[in-house]
Amino acid sequence: MDLFDKLEKRPGPLGAFTSDGYGYYTFPKLEGPLGPEMKFNGKDMVVWSINDYLGIGSNEEVKKVDAEATAKYSLSAPMGARLMTGNSDEHEALEKELAEFIHKPEALLLNFGYQGIMSVIHSLVDRNDFLIYDELSHACIVDGKQLAMCDKSVFKHNDIESFKKQLYRAAEKKKDNSSILVITEGVFGMTGDLGILKEIIELKKEVPFRLLVDDAHGFGTLGEDGSGTGTQLGCQDGIDIYFGTFAKAGALIGAFVASEPRVITFLRANVRSQIFAKSLPLPIVATARKRLQLIKDHPEWREKLWENTLKLREGLQKIGYNVLPSESPVTPVLTQGSTDLCMDIMRKLREEHGVFVSGVSYPVVPKGIVLIRLIPTAAHNDAHIEKTLNAFEAIKDFVMSAANKLTA
Ligand SMILES: Cc1ncc(COP(=O)(O)O)c(C=O)c1O
Repeated sequence: MDLFDKLEKRPGPLGAFTSDGYGYYTFPKLEGPLGPEMKFNGKDMVVWSINDYLGIGSNEEVKKVDAEATAKYSLSAPMGARLMTGNSDEHEALEKELAEFIHKPEALLLNFGYQGIMSVIHSLVDRNDFLIYDELSHACIVDGKQLAMCDKSVFKHNDIESFKKQLYRAAEKKKDNSSILVITEGVFGMTGDLGILKEIIELKKEVPFRLLVDDAHGFGTLGEDGSGTGTQLGCQDGIDIYFGTFAKAGALIGAFVASEPRVITFLRANVRSQIFAKSLPLPIVATARKRLQLIKDHPEWREKLWENTLKLREGLQKIGYNVLPSESPVTPVLTQGSTDLCMDIMRKLREEHGVFVSGVSYPVVPKGIVLIRLIPTAAHNDAHIEKTLNAFEAIKDFVMSAANKLTA
């Protein structure tokens, strides 16, 4: 059978949405300057779908640095991979600043979070090792695990008993030259709950292992200084390898991993997605430094983010919505219904109320569940929140009657 003919017959779980819903439910185009107010299909929207947690994407100082750094360096430089011709003082300075910020000795830049962490996981373990990860891990961890040649096992989401079972199994099976790598997340991006880092770390006393934490959503937003979920939970030291991305609180592209010097030395020589790929362009690195400085200098942005998060969340709960008990700004509204309901909610909010949210339903979540995920940012204001709460009030009967029909 011709490969292309076969692909037409198996479009994948998201295939129908990316063809029939293209431009609306998937691949929508938000236009105008980045921020909580953007245009969609020519209409004004209050946007709750972008992870620009601290409002850095619309910061004027940042835009100036973006322009100046691009004029100074060009987007082409440096050419080549870091290892060959793509290194610079800016790259090294950013690594130092990142490491200091998240309280680890050294850091290594990654061009993209997704490919970066996949490749880090691939490099860390060999066929004698054991990899144990949370079942709700982001696709990049799942893909990284696929690349890894070791024994792999999964524990139930944030379930310490299930984790222990996998840990003890690995401890029993391991040979002298086997090591154990545990991977979880700081903040689970869909549901907003935090990884049970402290409980996991506590078990190192029983069975030695190393812990890698993907803190994509915690970097810049959690902890009193913004240094992430480990700081928030008081266990940053117990994280052996910290992964953060610029794609959320930094509103940029690029990522990093941080650990002990001997680990970073190893990763520099072994992370294939960096060794065999062009390094981050200099303007990106320069603006990442500026953005990191702003994250450090503006703790009040985190306060505003939390203020907005609580106002939005409490408002939704008061109306009667089931907001999952998220411990991060991620605000997931859970209801019951079909994929059609999910799309109807998104459409009604956009068309009738000028409120842009993203929703997920089966196959991303189990059948019958509809999750509307709102991402508050420090750039949202009271008027945005009020408009959104009014919109959710207006569609409440529609949403609830669909849920009731399903449970009746
Ligand atoms: C938990 C998590 N890890 C990794 C990534 C990938 O990071 P990046 O967008 O920088 O590739 C994301 C999302 O973007 C994420 O949510």
